[in-house]
Amino acid sequence: MRRKVIAGNWKMNMLPDAAIRFIDEITPMVKDTKNEVVLCVPYTDLFYALLAAQNTNIKIGAQNMHWEESGAYTGEVSGKMLKAIGVEYVIIGHSERRQYFAETDETVNKKLKAAFANNLKPIVCVGETLEQREAGMANDIITSQTEKALDGLTDEQVANTIIAYEPIWAIGTGKTATSEDANNAIKAIRNKISNLYGQNVSERVIIQYGGSVKSTNAQELFSMSDIDGGLVGGASLKVDEFAKIVNYRKD
Ligand code: PGA
Repeated sequence: MRRKVIAGNWKMNMLPDAAIRFIDEITPMVKDTKNEVVLCVPYTDLFYALLAAQNTNIKIGAQNMHWEESGAYTGEVSGKMLKAIGVEYVIIGHSERRQYFAETDETVNKKLKAAFANNLKPIVCVGETLEQREAGMANDIITSQTEKALDGLTDEQVANTIIAYEPIWAIGTGKTATSEDANNAIKAIRNKISNLYGQNVSERVIIQYGGSVKSTNAQELFSMSDIDGGLVGGASLKVDEFAKIVNYRKD
């Protein structure tokens, strides 16, 4: 059975004092969950969040990284740097980075390889726009993004990649994909991985849903056959709400 991974994506929110308070408050609320709990925080919160999350079951992730280990890349942070301070997870290829910061399938692929080279656990985002969905191209887009992201990885690396299916029209809009639509899209991604890397690998890949996940829809979404948890933006900024999402079902 694949584990559910519930990851918060704070985006460009939360100052260090708020981050520490959030983690202190949520720690007792999520300590008994069997789900993996991850908070992907801004770079400037990482160190504080790592200290606050010590001796808890909360894992800390970054929201981006560069593919080179070091060098003349002003303003960038490498996977090696993240690993050095104890970061475990990293989001790669979020649609906001693709849209506003020129992230491409090629840079996503390079970053994914660099994440594995530095023993970071990558959460790779794929998703279609509303126009692409309406044109009936959603599955083509997300399976192609998946194929390009995973290109050149070993079977073991593919099995250890977390994919977040995030339809762009559902991010921050309050519009959630129906659980059936989300499950079908995720099945299409899993099928693609099965065709490329075999069924054993595809059955191990954790594929999350993201896009307006809330405490009121988490149970329905995460109970679907192929949805292995969620990448949660807005609702991960509120302690009670995020704790409810993590505890959508107590095992
Ligand atoms: P949202 O964001 O939950 O606020 O829609 C999800 C994401 O962008 O990862």
